[in-house]
Amino acid sequence: MLKLNHIKKDYIIDKETVHILEDVNLNINEGEFVSILGTSGCGKSTLLKIIIGLERATDGYISFENNDNNRIGMIFQEARLIPWKNVEENIEFGVDTGIDKKRKKAIVREQLNIVGLADYARAKPSQLSGGMQQRVSIARALAGEPKVLLLDEPFGALDAFTRISMQKEVLRLWETQKKTMILVTHDIDEAIFLSDRIIILSDHPGVIKREIKVDLSRPRDRSSYDFTVIRKEIYREFFEESDINIEYYI
Ligand SMILES: Nc1ncnc2c1ncn2[C@@H]1O[C@H](COP(=O)(O)OP(=O)(O)OP(=O)(O)O)[C@@H](O)[C@H]1O
Ligand SMILES: [Mg+2]
Repeated sequence: MLKLNHIKKDYIIDKETVHILEDVNLNINEGEFVSILGTSGCGKSTLLKIIIGLERATDGYISFENNDNNRIGMIFQEARLIPWKNVEENIEFGVDTGIDKKRKKAIVREQLNIVGLADYARAKPSQLSGGMQQRVSIARALAGEPKVLLLDEPFGALDAFTRISMQKEVLRLWETQKKTMILVTHDIDEAIFLSDRIIILSDHPGVIKREIKVDLSRPRDRSSYDFTVIRKEIYREFFEESDINIEYYI
């Protein structure tokens, strides 16, 4: 449904051209859950911004099936809510402008229920916990009825417990709403827990180093043998050229 063709991105930093992404080719199928892993600064956010059209690729192009480029939503690392608007109004902000008032209200109500915040419709963002704020930002993205949802480190700022419950939440949304999801994360277990496929980007420049298919049934058990095998394989990719013996760390 979505195809990245020879995506290249250069930035000019202090008059020097820096190659951020180099010939990234990727085919994403409808309904697929794909995660992108890579070290900090390798170009993951840049890649998502190019997909959604916030940044322009230096070379290469993205092709969408059925004009689905109009149906993309993005969830950022921080909730990015409008502080003076309440939960309901923040979610309404994500609904297409052409939609009439009554339908708009219905979409907002539905999203509030989906993310479990119906009782907080009138609360201001500052009255919510970090996890609840992030749920509002998920609802706002879903309110645009996207077919493709891009998630850029959406749980990075959350504590470990909230993070796990948000992972469960995203999995439930993916299973019930049949969306295509592309998740950028630093969390290897999160990627294995959620994805059909994991893409590992190298840095300087960012190229696809490895693709790993995760053929485990869901929900996945993080302590199972099969899970551990994939975890080790991914750690090995990151530490192959270092003197760190991963056997001691995982
Ligand atoms: N607008 C910009 N102008 C110039 N350079 C930029 C710009 N945005 C990003 N970069 C550079 O591009 C590189 C990749 O940035 P990007 O934000 O995509 O990294 P990332 O993989 O998402 O990192 P992190 O995991 O830390 O979020 C960085 O070296 C950064 O300095
Ligand atoms: Mg980033």
